[in-house]
Amino acid sequence: MDYEDRITQARAGAGEELAETSLRPHRLEEYIGQKSATENLKVYIEAAKLRREPLDHVLFYGPPGLGKTTLAGIIANELEVDIRITSGPAIERAGDLAAILTNLNDNDVLFIDEIHRLHRSVEEVLYSAMEDYALDIIIGKGPSARSIRLDLAKFTLIGATTRAGSLSAPLRDRFGVISKFELYTEEELSTIIGRSAHILGVEIDHDSLLELAKCSRGTPRIANRLLKRVRDFSQVKGDGRITKEITQSALDSMGVDEYGLESLDREILRLIIERFHGGPVGIDTIAASIGEERITIEDAYEPYLIQAGFLHRTQKGRMVSEKAYRHLGLTDDRKETAKSEEYEREEQIGCLDIQ
Ligand SMILES: Nc1ncnc2c1ncn2[C@@H]1O[C@H](COP(=O)(O)OP(=O)(O)O)[C@@H](O)[C@H]1O
Ligand SMILES: [Mg+2]
Repeated sequence: MDYEDRITQARAGAGEELAETSLRPHRLEEYIGQKSATENLKVYIEAAKLRREPLDHVLFYGPPGLGKTTLAGIIANELEVDIRITSGPAIERAGDLAAILTNLNDNDVLFIDEIHRLHRSVEEVLYSAMEDYALDIIIGKGPSARSIRLDLAKFTLIGATTRAGSLSAPLRDRFGVISKFELYTEEELSTIIGRSAHILGVEIDHDSLLELAKCSRGTPRIANRLLKRVRDFSQVKGDGRITKEITQSALDSMGVDEYGLESLDREILRLIIERFHGGPVGIDTIAASIGEERITIEDAYEPYLIQAGFLHRTQKGRMVSEKAYRHLGLTDDRKETAKSEEYEREEQIGCLDIQ
């Protein structure tokens, strides 16, 4: 199956962003989880409003589907200002960015998604915009060229990225607030699913909530997607209510197991076990063997496999855990080897004892 078509992939599919808007919380009080990020933000927002100043520039980083875009929208709502949404790859030239920046009003929010993918030349324009709310523009060419400074509105930049490590240091340093997004707990996810079910007007029982939360890989986007698919099953195969039986059979039909793993996740674990004796094995080797890009494995598969305790990241490479062996119903030959080594050692000690 193609990565893009997976039911449990965390990135938004084609057209999905639009469909998601109805489920997006609009105020901070509706936003569930990410307490470490939101609690401080609440204070900063309040303070900025009191002083009638723009909020400091904010950087969000973490895996896809965890609510970065949503929180950026909420910040603009709470500040009662307009938000302009764009993304790193969409801004091709410095002039495109200049056009966006000169159209902002005081205290407005500019949201740049995938900010790590900004072109270098564009990024450099952003430095003075962020620091001095000004643009340095060069007019003319050759000896007659001169630079003029254009004042901008005092705006807030909110940047989002899945890879904080790919951001250049000068850009990173210009953000006053940097927040890391964590995967959600099952409890938080079941609250999110309950809220979404309410908005969609579908009845769901408690067991199904917990079951879906467990399979959502710590990611609200996946939770909402599973809910919608299970709703389809409930309407076609049942009476429209989401029950435990419907949930279970829907998840089975979609090939999602009780930990939210799909065939490709299991393939990764199986590969490490069967070809590399459980690891450690380098990420590039895994990527090449599976036929996926390294970035896809790092961004989409690994965070959850690690959080759920199936995979460990070590200095020498990736290793599967005992839980992975158990889940796949395979025996851990590392343990067998460890046991027989132990046995040999005991035997030797035993021999020494006799002597
Ligand atoms: N904290 C949250 N509470 C409720 N729903 C959330 C939350 N975070 C994300 N969602 C839901 O998940 C979907 C994806 O979130 P999004 O902000 O697009 O993620 P990201 O930008 O990090 O990829 C949204 O449509 C929203 O409905
Ligand atoms: Mg987003």
